[in-house]
Amino acid sequence: MKAIVTGISGQDGYFLSQLLLSKGYEVHGILRRNSSMSQGTIDLLPLDVRKDIIIHYGDITDENFLSKILKEEKPDELYHLAAQSFVGYSFENAQSTYDVNIGGTLNVCNAIRSSSPDTRMYFAATSELFGKPIETPQNEKTPFLPRSPYAISKLAGLWTVRTYRDAYKLFMSNGILFNHESEVRGPEFVTRKISMGVARLHQGLTEPLILGNLSAVKDWGYAKDYVEGMWKMLQYDIPDDFVMGTGESHTVRDFVDEAFSVVGMNVKWIGTGVNEVGLSDEEKVLVKVSRDLYRPLESDNYRADYTKAREKLGWEPRVKFKELVRLMVESDIKALNSQ
Ligand code: GDD
Repeated sequence: MKAIVTGISGQDGYFLSQLLLSKGYEVHGILRRNSSMSQGTIDLLPLDVRKDIIIHYGDITDENFLSKILKEEKPDELYHLAAQSFVGYSFENAQSTYDVNIGGTLNVCNAIRSSSPDTRMYFAATSELFGKPIETPQNEKTPFLPRSPYAISKLAGLWTVRTYRDAYKLFMSNGILFNHESEVRGPEFVTRKISMGVARLHQGLTEPLILGNLSAVKDWGYAKDYVEGMWKMLQYDIPDDFVMGTGESHTVRDFVDEAFSVVGMNVKWIGTGVNEVGLSDEEKVLVKVSRDLYRPLESDNYRADYTKAREKLGWEPRVKFKELVRLMVESDIKALNSQ
């Protein structure tokens, strides 16, 4: 079996490429060339894993490039993970978010249609489509009410996939995945920002963690579990859309509390909104809030109902909230200790 992964240099690419290689796949990755020659999370893979990944340098905004690769490789599966994936940034750069996330997805769909119609495609949609959901928990039937340029772009991607699937009888599935995190999560996302900050404070560094909206409610799982779900979607008899999450809701504040508890520290919260601070037992400021880190619109109150994925795909998240936070904090402490 042969698979192409766009966005292979991100967190999900890191876990997915290992999963596919362990199943005997020939794994190809599409990567944008950059001047630092960094390959993102690919650089974190052990050498004996990395050497088996075939990298094609190019951009998903270039349909000719995609068509050429698909014509040459005719992969059994394509996982379309490449995106401008930071919700906060999309408010400042809506245009580039639309170009990459809508244009790129359209290009992938067109390239499959014209050059390799038997390829099965996975598209990384998102729980952000629900915006401020009108029901809890959320499943495949919950209305989409996007509240950011990022979410709007992913909605266009999801509908492009649905339309191509129906119009041209292509095997294309959407994963409506809730937040999924890990020890290789980018430091701009809140969970890794917290785990790295807690590791630093635990080492005695004094700078407090500065965060935005502490009350946002998300459903956080472990990325390694979710890439297994992506793979299962493409092994299913028919192309379809699936929600995947843990079914647990937590605030950003809960994540902070849990992360400090991993290192045996307690956080006392005082104040509200932008004046809220988290203090240690010794009254040292551990967490502060900055208005600058709030988004113009928040999308939250998330809790996944993943019944369909469980019943049809046999998918279950293995790692739940507490274990996720522990593994991230412990990994960052280990990394600091080895510096
Ligand atoms: N990034 C960030 N930084 N977020 C903060 C901060 C901060 O300092 N303080 C509070 N937050 C809040 C955000 O307002 C948001 O409600 C929540 O923390 C999570 O933010 P992110 O970690 O940036 O993730 P996200 O939920 O916006 O989006 C992620 O998950 C989606 C669902 O799977 C991304 O991976 C998306 O690409 C993905 O679609």
